[in-house]
Amino acid sequence: MTRTKNLSAVFLAVGLAAGLSACAPAGSNSEEEGEASSCNVGISMPTRSLERWINDGEGLKEKLEAKDCTVDLQYADNKTDQQISQIQNQVAGGAKILVVAAIDGETLGPTLEDAKGQDVQIIAYDRLINGTEAVDYYATFDNYKVGQLQGEFIEEQLGLAEGEGPFNLEPFAGSPDDNNASFFFSGAWDVLLPYVESGQLVVPSGKSPASNDEWTSIGILGWESADAQAEMDNRLQSFYTGGEKVDVVLSPNDSLALGIEASLDAAGYQPGSDWPLITGQDGDVANVKAMLEDRQSMTVWKDTRELGTQVETMIDALVAGEDVEVNDTETYNNGVLVVPTYILDPVVVTKDTVESQLVDSGFLEAGEVGL
Ligand code: BGC
Repeated sequence: MTRTKNLSAVFLAVGLAAGLSACAPAGSNSEEEGEASSCNVGISMPTRSLERWINDGEGLKEKLEAKDCTVDLQYADNKTDQQISQIQNQVAGGAKILVVAAIDGETLGPTLEDAKGQDVQIIAYDRLINGTEAVDYYATFDNYKVGQLQGEFIEEQLGLAEGEGPFNLEPFAGSPDDNNASFFFSGAWDVLLPYVESGQLVVPSGKSPASNDEWTSIGILGWESADAQAEMDNRLQSFYTGGEKVDVVLSPNDSLALGIEASLDAAGYQPGSDWPLITGQDGDVANVKAMLEDRQSMTVWKDTRELGTQVETMIDALVAGEDVEVNDTETYNNGVLVVPTYILDPVVVTKDTVESQLVDSGFLEAGEVGL
């Protein structure tokens, strides 16, 4: 995947006279451009089963309520039908701004188009919503970079650029219905595939996509830990029968890493001896503990508080009828339009930086992870 973008430039999504007029248009495809929205916000999150979405939803709700917005926060149990009916209820209940982290990036179009028909502004949160013009803005972390950081971590730890190998790799990918998952995989695979092709990385299970486009063949639907565990069990039991060991696992996020780690445990791998290198994403408490116990090598941390603050800023602008600040207008094409986006930077956290990055910033409390 080729991507070009200029994160340093800050664009304004709509209008040229940004900041000069208090009533510059808000909402790129609002039916009544220029009108301020009331601060009545529906937040639609995918699931409570992952810590990050609980933090995301509750954090944003708190910020908005502190400024007297009306907020309805719903979690959809990873079920698309439930998410659709929750959004419909939010609109029927008077929401004028929707913040949506889609479960399935392809299926919300008609629901959001109905909402737009009622002058609702729509912000895609963390995950892009595809195939519809009913998305005004997108706020996310650099999803390609998340995968790239994972790939580069593996490259560096194993000394691949210096010609080390061969190592046994088992790659995993995220949920096929999540638009982010292809970016994560491409970011990592652009780094790792050349080493698979050179033979420095060997994939004993054969579950090695020949190109970025084939990533769904190793995707774990719904990002379920239990399914990642079952898949890893299956690979270990079927392809590691002659005493071979897994050296490295590419896991796109923490929920999959947890399942993979449980499988390694059951297969008798020992931290500090033959435990493989394993990647993650999110900085969930259980995974940070796993890092401190040498059961996970890294996590890509996305400070969800920053994402919340960015969305809060977008909402402030919409409510005031002002232009919305974005910093990318070329990366996220949803098939119908390139959605004006604010992209934030993810960072790598390892055992050695848990304290300085996660604890000192207040993202986690030392006691939560046993420090
Ligand atoms: C998010 C990740 C998360 C995953 C599973 C992705 O869309 O960007 O942070 O781990 O979904 O919920």
